[in-house]
Amino acid sequence: MQHVYMDYAATTPMLPEVAAAMQPFFSQRFGNPSSIHSMGQEGRDAVEAARGQVAGLIGCQSDDVVFTGGGTEADNHAIKGVCLAGRERGNHIITTAIEHHAVLYACNFMKELGFEVTVVPVDKDGLVDPADIKKAITGKTLLVSVMHANNEVGAIQPVEEISKITREAGVCFHVDAMQTMGHLPFNVDMLGVDLLSASAHKLYGPKGVGMLYIRPGTRVVPLLHGGEQENERRAGTENVPGIAGFGKAAEIAAPDMGKEAATLTAYREKLVDGILARVEDAYLNGHRQKRLPNNVNISFDFIEGESILMYLDSEGICASTGSACSSASSEPSHVLTSLGMPVERARGSLRLTMGRWTTEAEVDKVLEALPRIVSKLRAMSPLVKERCGWINYL
Ligand SMILES: Cc1ncc(COP(=O)(O)O)c(C=O)c1O
Repeated sequence: MQHVYMDYAATTPMLPEVAAAMQPFFSQRFGNPSSIHSMGQEGRDAVEAARGQVAGLIGCQSDDVVFTGGGTEADNHAIKGVCLAGRERGNHIITTAIEHHAVLYACNFMKELGFEVTVVPVDKDGLVDPADIKKAITGKTLLVSVMHANNEVGAIQPVEEISKITREAGVCFHVDAMQTMGHLPFNVDMLGVDLLSASAHKLYGPKGVGMLYIRPGTRVVPLLHGGEQENERRAGTENVPGIAGFGKAAEIAAPDMGKEAATLTAYREKLVDGILARVEDAYLNGHRQKRLPNNVNISFDFIEGESILMYLDSEGICASTGSACSSASSEPSHVLTSLGMPVERARGSLRLTMGRWTTEAEVDKVLEALPRIVSKLRAMSPLVKERCGWINYL
């Protein structure tokens, strides 16, 4: 069966050019970049070339990029690293209710170590109010961590405004840019960030490789101790094939971003309008305009998102209910409940995320299949209003 892949926020397929750029470092060019001999230097050259390509995409100096073992590590590095480096000066972190668990759980861990964490709420569209961040800052605040765009509902956060506040207060600002790097044009100065984390597999690169941008002068303790790799900021022999692939993906992303975003925005609008017109009791989650070009997240009352997912999968359509990392959990998404939505509606959510290989024919296929599947499930659902008197909670 030909699959319709609509789960690009979970991971993207790797570009063939990226695979080709990685290949030699799995085989003949296997040298350790820390080795002095010429084979080692080939590895070193590949790592440094990739550093330049990644830095080029986000408008920073190569030296400000630290390669990590993925996005989760980069988020942990930023949060734990800033807190531990600044523990003499303060003990307070500010983050938001809709962050990825890589941020929220790292903050929880710091709480166990005695730090204080303020979790700022979001509005019903999934947006953070910069004034809430400003209010939460105290003389003890070391770090503010706010994601650039949410991975579930696609809401794009006002990070530029927040950075003005953190700058003024002299507080370090971290942004998780997993869903935006290589998709939305930005640079680190435009956003005003001190730390920015990203992951290669979200921009058509390999899994298990990420990066943390660290603005010069920002004090960050390393997460991993050992060798002197990454300028003594991240110990361990570099993942040379992965890093080379990340570099290639970053290089390719730069010129393609605008065109891809325009196409995906058109598909997104077609999907949202089409689904809302065809299906009753369906609600778009996340801000209608301030959202990622590729993200559609809709709740369907009276049914479970997981059942929709299974029926879609049986027709070859790959989607998601929330973030891939928590899809094994039966708990409703913390992001959706943070938008103030009742648990029942959060359980009936479906996320469709598109990307480079999405076609209009695929969008049409989803528009044909989804209303049919929702009707079928509602016909079987004990929750349907006609049968049990659905409480209208809005
Ligand atoms: C917003 C966000 N943060 C962090 C991560 C974690 O990245 P990785 O899968 O590279 O560990 C993801 C990806 O799942 C994400 O979407």
